[in-house]
Amino acid sequence: MWASRWYHRLIMGENKFVIVGGNPLRGEVRVGGAKNSVLKLMAASLLTPEECLIHNVPRITDVKIMVEVLRRLGAGVTWEGSSLRVCAGEFTSREAPYQLVRRMRASIIVLGPLVARWGEASVAIPGGCNIGSRKIDMHLKGLAELGAEISTEHGYVHARAARLKGTHIVLDFPSVGATENLIMAAVGAEGRTVIENAAREPEIQDLAAFLASMGAEVEGAGTPVITVTGPCDLKGTEHTAIGDRIEAGTLAVAAAVAGGEVALAGVDPRHLGLPLEKLREVGVEVEEAEGRLLVRGGGEYRSVDLATLPFPGFPTDLQPQIMVLLSLAGGTSVITENVFESRFMFVDELNRMGCDISIEGHHAIVRGVGALSGAEVCAPDLRAGAALVLAGLAAEGETHLLDVYHVDRGYENLEAKLSSLGADITRVGVEEEPIL
Ligand code: EPZ
Repeated sequence: MWASRWYHRLIMGENKFVIVGGNPLRGEVRVGGAKNSVLKLMAASLLTPEECLIHNVPRITDVKIMVEVLRRLGAGVTWEGSSLRVCAGEFTSREAPYQLVRRMRASIIVLGPLVARWGEASVAIPGGCNIGSRKIDMHLKGLAELGAEISTEHGYVHARAARLKGTHIVLDFPSVGATENLIMAAVGAEGRTVIENAAREPEIQDLAAFLASMGAEVEGAGTPVITVTGPCDLKGTEHTAIGDRIEAGTLAVAAAVAGGEVALAGVDPRHLGLPLEKLREVGVEVEEAEGRLLVRGGGEYRSVDLATLPFPGFPTDLQPQIMVLLSLAGGTSVITENVFESRFMFVDELNRMGCDISIEGHHAIVRGVGALSGAEVCAPDLRAGAALVLAGLAAEGETHLLDVYHVDRGYENLEAKLSSLGADITRVGVEEEPIL
């Protein structure tokens, strides 16, 4: 953690957000393309030597790292506005190196397509992160069941397969990444592959649509049973990524905690079913009109209990954000985190802003408080960083959020979007205090 912070402050010219709370939000914002779909569409582009054009790509750090991963493999990748043109005709390498994987663990998602296309791949084993150990055992077990030989040494996983053979896979848990890696590997396998207990997230459906447009046969995406028939010679394609439901959910909670009225465009409301229901239960007015979400905040809020679960359950990626809202509600709420083992690390930072949250195992007991107070806080990870921004919008006084490079991983110009709605938030370079 310290080394990463040093790296960012020295190399990346660390920034912080300075937020002055109290402004209500008003206006309309278009959310960007879904980070957790675009990264997989980019990986899927490795399955064909032909050109793939992906639209609605957010310019966020995770995408920039994935661009570096694809280029390291030998693919041509060029930006065209908010579109990416990927051409994986020639490969100069079949290895995703540690110095890239350590910065973006989702790089593991190139494993499946590389094995399907070339029969071999070496990917650095992603470390854990602030929200959990982030294991990949289900990815590897499924690839082995498809006929790949898996070995791990010197911090890398090596997968080799003269030929992949369709099979019946049952996942222990509906893992998003494992489902995606195995779908892409199965595209290169001979025969039918059935993946049971598959993840059902909208991003999986977007990947399946992308693969189908390349000529793959993928059925059942969005249900717990996905069937892939291979092998397929895939063609290039052009595809527009779905809107980012987590960015939309984050901005909806921003409108709730800051008060005001915000319209969110560019997201499919069906991808936010339960989160919108929970916001209504709390007392936030949420309407859907002409494909946009209208969120009206500022009233009295009620405590509610919620548990994070795989889609269509409440998304773990909105857990930190709704915790801020529940801190402003009357009464006590219980949030249960079922997806990651340590996704409450940021609670201490929230409590420094006046929240009253205690942790009991995988439950967070959130006692409503009258108001929050601005403070100097650090973002420990992407979604917790976003939650601390929301807390700053609601807090009395000034909040300085350090280590915003975490937030930049998944939100494009978050401060610009919030400022356009009336928030008082600015990005400031951090002058290193001399250590005397
Ligand atoms: C994806 O991560 C998302 N990331 C995460 O979003 C999201 O929180 C998560 O899905 C759950 O929805 C991307 O899509 C890039 P999982 P992923 O495999 O695929 C355990 C964000 O903020 N597990 O569904 O890594 C794992 O440790 C990020 O945008 C195994 O034990 O999630 C975790 O506890 C954060 N073995 C749980 O399953 C495995 O082989 C869910 O992981 C795989 C996973």
